[in-house]
Amino acid sequence: MRIRKAVIPAAGLGTRILPASKAVPKEMLPIVDKPAIQYIVEEAVDAGITDILIITNRGKAVIEDHFDHSVELENALREKERFSELETIEKIAKLANVMFLRQGETGGLGHAVLKAKTFVDNEPFAVLYGDDVIIGDTPAIGELAQAYEKYGLGVAGVQPVPIEEIGKYCSLEVEPIADRIMKVTDMIEKPSPYQVMSEYAILGRVILPPEIFDILNNIPKGANNELQLTDAMRVLARSKGMTGVQFSGKRYDMGNKLSYMQANVEMGLKNPSFGSQFRQYLKELTQKF
Ligand code: UTP
Repeated sequence: MRIRKAVIPAAGLGTRILPASKAVPKEMLPIVDKPAIQYIVEEAVDAGITDILIITNRGKAVIEDHFDHSVELENALREKERFSELETIEKIAKLANVMFLRQGETGGLGHAVLKAKTFVDNEPFAVLYGDDVIIGDTPAIGELAQAYEKYGLGVAGVQPVPIEEIGKYCSLEVEPIADRIMKVTDMIEKPSPYQVMSEYAILGRVILPPEIFDILNNIPKGANNELQLTDAMRVLARSKGMTGVQFSGKRYDMGNKLSYMQANVEMGLKNPSFGSQFRQYLKELTQKF
């Protein structure tokens, strides 16, 4: 079945990137000139997804404004005949059928996904974590959707992470199936060194069957007294299994200060209007250190 719907949880507190995220949602932090969450919506649209539900919270209304028309701005740009900027702005409001729902409390990623039950309505759906931007030649969620169509199981977007860092992620028990494709039979969130199952971790993208809602409704709260999506996916992995897809793009975590800086430098270098100047600037700068 083709994946048409996506959920983007964007209701978290963003405590790792304070004070930037005190009044501005971390999902709205720009990479060069575009908010992180716009990259994520564009990735979903490029993969053929038509309906997107963004889970928000108090203090996150600017996300709704960003995907709405800004009539005053559009009129001003039209009057000034700044048609290129006008097109850029108008396009954002027409990207997809984007809807919003408030989580009400920051009850965890599992709780955020559970809020999407009515929207999803009994079909497989994509989840794109609102603070994970993946830049690549093909949309990462499209690579996962292909695996869903082929194998019919929930899909986790994975990449190997350095073993000394795996304790910050969800480590997966995997058996290789094909190039960059694996069967996932178990997982453990934030493992201590003796619990590590493999170097493969889930990074920001999954495709879930609608059964996940029953699982979420029946598991207890987990770490931090929150409903953890990983706990529900572990039930899925242990029963039916899931498919792991090592996506080809590079992932940047907007909640992490170093990753955020790396995203800006790397996308700055690729920028068509000032990338070469920026490269020259960085070369001169690094000679001084
Ligand atoms: P994170 O765990 O990275 O975000 O969740 P966080 O809770 O903001 O984390 P800290 O405070 O920086 O450590 C991944 C995604 O899930 C969303 C977040 O907004 C983020 O985009 N999320 C998390 C929710 O929508 N609701 C929640 O209750 C928790």
